[in-house]
Amino acid sequence: MSSNSIKDGEFVLLYLKPRKTWLIKVKAGEKVHTHAGFIEHNSIIGKEYGSSIESSTGRAFRLLKPTIADFLMKFSRPTQVVYPKDLGIIAAWTGLSSGKIVIESGTGSGALTAFMANLVRPDGHVYTYEIREEFVDVAKKNLQKAGLLDYVTITKKDAKEGIDVDDADIAIIDVGDPWTLVEPFKKALKGSGMLAAISPTMNQAEKLTAELLEKGFVDVLSLELISRDLEARVGMTRPSMRMIGHTAYLTFARKGL
Ligand SMILES: C[S@@+](CC[C@H](N)C(=O)[O-])C[C@H]1O[C@@H](n2cnc3c(N)ncnc32)[C@H](O)[C@@H]1O
Repeated sequence: MSSNSIKDGEFVLLYLKPRKTWLIKVKAGEKVHTHAGFIEHNSIIGKEYGSSIESSTGRAFRLLKPTIADFLMKFSRPTQVVYPKDLGIIAAWTGLSSGKIVIESGTGSGALTAFMANLVRPDGHVYTYEIREEFVDVAKKNLQKAGLLDYVTITKKDAKEGIDVDDADIAIIDVGDPWTLVEPFKKALKGSGMLAAISPTMNQAEKLTAELLEKGFVDVLSLELISRDLEARVGMTRPSMRMIGHTAYLTFARKGL
């Protein structure tokens, strides 16, 4: 069996067309049902990632290896989540990479948590704080499904009460009142450690910036990333008529001593 062939227990993204995909964990003997027919898992095992398979109604599905973004888009999302366009720049600015120790609040649905856990593993760790029990449970299930729970510690707690970690490399704030977490997160961060915050409104970014400067953070910067799809067709390529106008303002800063 080639190293690129699908094994029992692996995740596969069944791709029918853009935005019509199913993320499944292959299990011998099971079946996946879609509006375009069903597929037996046994017929997927042993096939190469990238190859096609026909459903019971003769529709062709492509068998793809899921990326972290595929997992995130399939998470259950009872809270607002951080989307891929913003995740990428958070990783670039904060230097998220294998071995880093990250502190985060709130966990919400765990989308950002999972993205970070995937980057810091196997030696790094994400310590995340969520005030609401129901979201702790959702995030745990999402992280478990993505195979990332071993790299995350979720604590049900108001992060204002303090973070039980010393010398973290990176701090992430995604709550409605981010300025209230500057003090506890500063205590838990190492000198020069990076802080990133996600704020849906300018008012939040403004109040947060004032607090960061007041608490001695340096290199404080806010930005908004605007992303527009392109409809590429030979001879008639143009921007998509629809776009997501706004997600969040991102604020970055480094801890000064
Ligand atoms: C917008 S959601 C976070 C979404 C998350 N970044 C994601 O991508 O899935 C904000 C979360 O912060 C939690 N929260 C708000 N204030 C908090 C605090 N002081 N301590 C801990 N959690 C808090 C809320 O309950 C909510 O679940």
